[in-house]
Amino acid sequence: MNYEENARVISDDIFNLINTCFENERKSKDSKYRVNFFDTYKNYFVLTDDGSYSINSREINHKIETLHTSTGAISEAFEKFIKPMKFDYSKDIAILDICAGLGYNSSAAIDDFLKKEDNSNLTIDMVEISSPTLACGLLVPSPIEAHNITCKAIEEELIKTNYACLELEKTAIPKNIDINVYIEDARKTVQNLKDKQYDAIFLDPFSQNMAPELFSLDLFKEFKRIIKDNGIIATYTSAAPVRGAFIEAGFYVGQGPIFGRKQGGTLASPSPEMLEISLPKNDEIRIALSDVGISFKDPGLNNSSKYILDKRTEERHRERHNTRISSAVKTPIFLGDEMDDEKLKRRVERNLAKMNIPSTTSSEAMYIVEIENKYNKKQDKTNNSRNRILDMEKKLKEVKNGKL
Ligand SMILES: C[S@@+](CC[C@H](N)C(=O)[O-])C[C@H]1O[C@@H](n2cnc3c(N)ncnc32)[C@H](O)[C@@H]1O
Repeated sequence: MNYEENARVISDDIFNLINTCFENERKSKDSKYRVNFFDTYKNYFVLTDDGSYSINSREINHKIETLHTSTGAISEAFEKFIKPMKFDYSKDIAILDICAGLGYNSSAAIDDFLKKEDNSNLTIDMVEISSPTLACGLLVPSPIEAHNITCKAIEEELIKTNYACLELEKTAIPKNIDINVYIEDARKTVQNLKDKQYDAIFLDPFSQNMAPELFSLDLFKEFKRIIKDNGIIATYTSAAPVRGAFIEAGFYVGQGPIFGRKQGGTLASPSPEMLEISLPKNDEIRIALSDVGISFKDPGLNNSSKYILDKRTEERHRERHNTRISSAVKTPIFLGDEMDDEKLKRRVERNLAKMNIPSTTSSEAMYIVEIENKYNKKQDKTNNSRNRILDMEKKLKEVKNGKL
């Protein structure tokens, strides 16, 4: 099966119902299939706490994810993707919306722009692999007025690609808003985009274990090329391999807003000034020193999710006790601490010994995490998560190689 057929998209039952709906529309040129869809199949949609609707993913490895948080699908778009961006609406703004789904993140961006615009222009490039998923955006009740603008752009593209055939969306796209819809694998799209053109990238795939190909180091290197120097990437996940990949690709990283989850998401930018809040201290230590920080690799940007996950597992085994401290029992977070729990201490010190670190309070341990004494939740140009992570990585290497 090729990647497109196997991709993580909406669940098969609703996927097929939407395909049939648009097939009927094409055959009959009758609007009733689209108009009646939501009322007929309402049970397939997931009502979230703010009254907006979401939808379930296809089941993969016995796991189903909902496209949005149950706390509120459209609220999530504003909280996680719009609020952290420092858009200066006196200038033109360009956004890349990766994994556009029902189009909520783009709709939230349009809403924000229309409220604050200042004679400027907004360009949004939406990328979504699945036509039925985009089409689903036309079938749900619009959670905000601006969603009708997004729907117009989606409908135009679906008509162009012969998926839909009727122009049912009455809302016009304002002259100062340009929306391009790409229906393809985002990894393919990004390779054809121009350098330094985006103020913001919304990165909204399913979770990193379901869709590691959309969180890989190789993809993030492309982001580094296409984002402006003061641009910001926002994603909801706080996963160590994702944050590790941003660092490896040359980004500064910061903590994103907490909404509907225990931990804040992740923000990344080529400029430290754009990111206010440091990652939590223990996250920095684990990303820098343990094998959980090892990124997903997708050379050629065309590998399957399984290949990428398997390769990372192999790399973690290879690097553990070699260039990285074992992540077992969260070993690195104890560096610099006295430990009371004797059993845990023995396990931690066994792992540390393999990296030439005699104990959690040895001079080697203190040397590696020394920079965390300067940890500050508010980050700045020099004292920030990226610099601390790189410093710890370098010192671990020195200690392992006996250069201390
Ligand atoms: C969590 S949902 C995104 C929700 C969306 N941002 C919204 O506002 O509704 C993830 C989306 O990624 C899409 N997707 C999966 N693999 C993709 C790929 N390789 N390229 C582009 N989109 C992909 C899925 O079809 C799904 O719609």
